[in-house]
Amino acid sequence: TEFITVSELASLMNVSATEVISACFSLGVMVTMNQRLEADTLTLVADEFGYKIEFSDADIEEAAAEEEPDSEEDLLPRAPIVTVMGHVDHGKTSLLDYVRKTNVIAGESGGITQHIGAYNVKLENGQRITFLDTPGHEAFTAMRARGAQVTDIAIIVVAADDDVMPQTKEAIAHAQAAGVPMIIAINKVDKANANPDKIREQLSAMNVLVEEWGGNVQAQEISAKFGNNVELLLEKVLLQAELLELKSNPNKQASGVVIEAALDKGRGYVATMLVQNGTLTVGDYVLAGKNHGKVKAMLDERGKPMEKAGPSIPVTILGLDGAPTAGDKFRVFADEKEAKTIANKREQLQREQSIRTKKHLTLDEIGRRI
Ligand code: GTP
Ligand code: MG
Repeated sequence: TEFITVSELASLMNVSATEVISACFSLGVMVTMNQRLEADTLTLVADEFGYKIEFSDADIEEAAAEEEPDSEEDLLPRAPIVTVMGHVDHGKTSLLDYVRKTNVIAGESGGITQHIGAYNVKLENGQRITFLDTPGHEAFTAMRARGAQVTDIAIIVVAADDDVMPQTKEAIAHAQAAGVPMIIAINKVDKANANPDKIREQLSAMNVLVEEWGGNVQAQEISAKFGNNVELLLEKVLLQAELLELKSNPNKQASGVVIEAALDKGRGYVATMLVQNGTLTVGDYVLAGKNHGKVKAMLDERGKPMEKAGPSIPVTILGLDGAPTAGDKFRVFADEKEAKTIANKREQLQREQSIRTKKHLTLDEIGRRI
């Protein structure tokens, strides 16, 4: 079982990541900044810096309850999960809106109108893509900080009538740090003052070399506003997805990530979840962060009831006893009592944290601080 990353541990101990990396090195463990550490390594490295790690009962219980790895023959292809990032006003929302409006499931009447944190679209060729419609930045920072790697592919939108801007660079840095392949959408090429080559050049200046220029980063000129070439962009997403060979086992109890959650008047707590493994079914007992409950109903992105949701499928569920935080992991438990016990322990730990003295690091505390 792996816990926090090198850089998270470093920031908790107030030392640089480099110091942690070299401490690991001297213990014979080669690590990178974003690598998660095993319990043994964590304990030894923390000790080098004069800290003692407390593994709480809940951490251990959780680790014990962790899923068995799937065997190769149980794995089936799943749809890619895509996040759109980029500088302010460069056209992220326009792109997501266009995709959502034009790629509704064939034969379904009405597109997706209300805001939803994630949706799955079916393209004309029958293939599917799941888009996360949370601010891309948030999807990366908040979710990754909670240990949830959600995105398979990042679309970086850059307006061709502008420049590669600070948030463009930040988005690229996030994708690179997470090891998520990116596809550059050079947007607003319909504009008279658009200069796509300038964008390609500015990208190359930061070592992001697009394919047309002999590099290995896919790029596509588009107009999100008018929909020009958006289908070509989506084809590139699918091509990238194919290279990633995304697979998961649909035939087990579901686990995944909370995308967003809120209290809804009349319906109670409503949580949008993204299933990453297994299949979520109405009636399942779910633990999500500190919250738990039996899934009373599941809705798709159009608000239509559904019975089951497999890997890469986002679903809105009713029935939790509260609103978990975006990025919290969720898991189905066969045993309702076990789920409740862990939920209660998590809550109790969070309360105790406020009175605990420093110098002792708990993993739960880490989850709270980063
Ligand atoms: P924030 O969410 O504020 O960061 O912006 P955004 O990246 O979501 O940009 P948004 O889609 O809201 O677009 C910003 C403005 O650019 C809007 O007025 C859009 O109509 C316009 N716009 C977006 N894409 C295009 C395009 O391809 N061509 C033209 N001409 N305008 C575009
Ligand atoms: Mg927007």
